[in-house]
Amino acid sequence: MSSHIKEFKVLGDDRGQLVALEGNIDIPFSIKRVFYIYGTQDGVLRGNHAHYKANQFLIVINGSCKITLDDGLKKETFLLDKPNLGLCQPPMIWGTMHAFSSDCVLLVLADDIYKEEDYIRDYDTFLEVIKK
Ligand code: TYD
Repeated sequence: MSSHIKEFKVLGDDRGQLVALEGNIDIPFSIKRVFYIYGTQDGVLRGNHAHYKANQFLIVINGSCKITLDDGLKKETFLLDKPNLGLCQPPMIWGTMHAFSSDCVLLVLADDIYKEEDYIRDYDTFLEVIKK
């Protein structure tokens, strides 16, 4: 699953750093929604769900957190601690976010608008659905 991590080009100069992300170029889908999570403390677990269809790209633009991806057979945990790292969470992959630094700002790019019916929030249901 290591291929889920992508390192973005940093367009830095003596004024500071800039990362530019274009849909279907740097991010492998058209971006339809952006949301971000902040003010989450260490010890808190977020996410804990999979999507039936939605693709997401997760980028920690400040601070750090860990994200565990689980395909139902194996789990892999990624440390996101640089603003030029992105983690792809495709459909039907269970994702949990944890080990948030208090200054963590986690940006999520998604290829669809928010649809609660696209969520699988129960892990046993997730395992049943991927078996089919
Ligand atoms: P939730 O899915 O619990 O967040 P996380 O998976 O990061 O722990 O979402 C928190 C609340 O925000 C919940 O009421 C649903 C709502 N929400 C939206 O309205 N739009 C969105 O795009 C997202 C991601 C969540």
